[in-house]
Amino acid sequence: MLEIDQVTIRFGAIEAVSNADFSLSEDELLALIGPNGAGKTALLNSVCGIYTPASGDIRANGRSTIGAAPDEIAAMGIGRAFQHGELFGGLTVTENLMVGRTRQLWGAVGWAGFRWGRYMRHEVEALTRVEQVMDFFEISHHRDTMVEDLPFGLQKLVGVARALCGDPEVLLLDEPSSGLTRQEKEDFARFLLRIRHDLGLPVLWIEHDMQMVMDLADRIVVLDYGKIIADGEPAAVASSPAVIDAYLGRPLNADEGAVSPTSQPEEVVPR
Ligand SMILES: Nc1ncnc2c1ncn2[C@@H]1O[C@H](COP(=O)(O)OP(=O)(O)O)[C@@H](O)[C@H]1O
Ligand SMILES: [Mg+2]
Repeated sequence: MLEIDQVTIRFGAIEAVSNADFSLSEDELLALIGPNGAGKTALLNSVCGIYTPASGDIRANGRSTIGAAPDEIAAMGIGRAFQHGELFGGLTVTENLMVGRTRQLWGAVGWAGFRWGRYMRHEVEALTRVEQVMDFFEISHHRDTMVEDLPFGLQKLVGVARALCGDPEVLLLDEPSSGLTRQEKEDFARFLLRIRHDLGLPVLWIEHDMQMVMDLADRIVVLDYGKIIADGEPAAVASSPAVIDAYLGRPLNADEGAVSPTSQPEEVVPR
């Protein structure tokens, strides 16, 4: 679905990502973890066309995305939710989700001048899709609420919902759980599993909460100073000495992978 092929990203003299190489297969929930400044967001930004890699290739469904503009990359099936939401606080949930649909609507705008009916049909389609997505995330009762009036956890969910409204084939999430309470994280975890299992959508997921990662991810890629230091199944990655040394600080106990509403163990805080 998504191939990161020997990607290097530079900002002036800084090499933020060095020869990153991994791919995301269908149905895979892949967690990208690592210390602050490791290059995780830079890598995600290069996948959606905000940064251009200095070298290497990125392919979506076998087609190179290098040189394509962000909206063209979205049209290639890459959907992205931002670290800080980037929502319109003064607009309603429905209006924000309609923004996630603009790619499809813009396609119809060219027709609007002389074929009003065609534009209307696209708008009706967009609203239908937005309603489906709100239903999926159980936020339909908030459809007319201003986003700024929602609790933070729901705002983050709206950000993910908006990315889904563009009908992506791959979803990119940058720290979707940061700032959420434990309860909000558990709700979010449930939706992440439903995106993975019910929608069958592959997800590349940057996450700091190791408890969530251990519990949900199919695979983990670890970046440290721009280099991949581990790539594999969660249990193997969490016990890798290089990962413990660079990121975890200590080995994780087996029960630290369980997100349970009753036990609520302490979060593992990376060094
Ligand atoms: N737009 C930018 N301009 C210059 N340097 C940047 C830019 N974005 C990121 N960097 C640098 O690249 C490195 C990786 O940053 P980032 O990808 O944000 O890390 P992470 O998301 O893993 O915390 C850092 O050294 C950061 O300062
Ligand atoms: Mg980041």
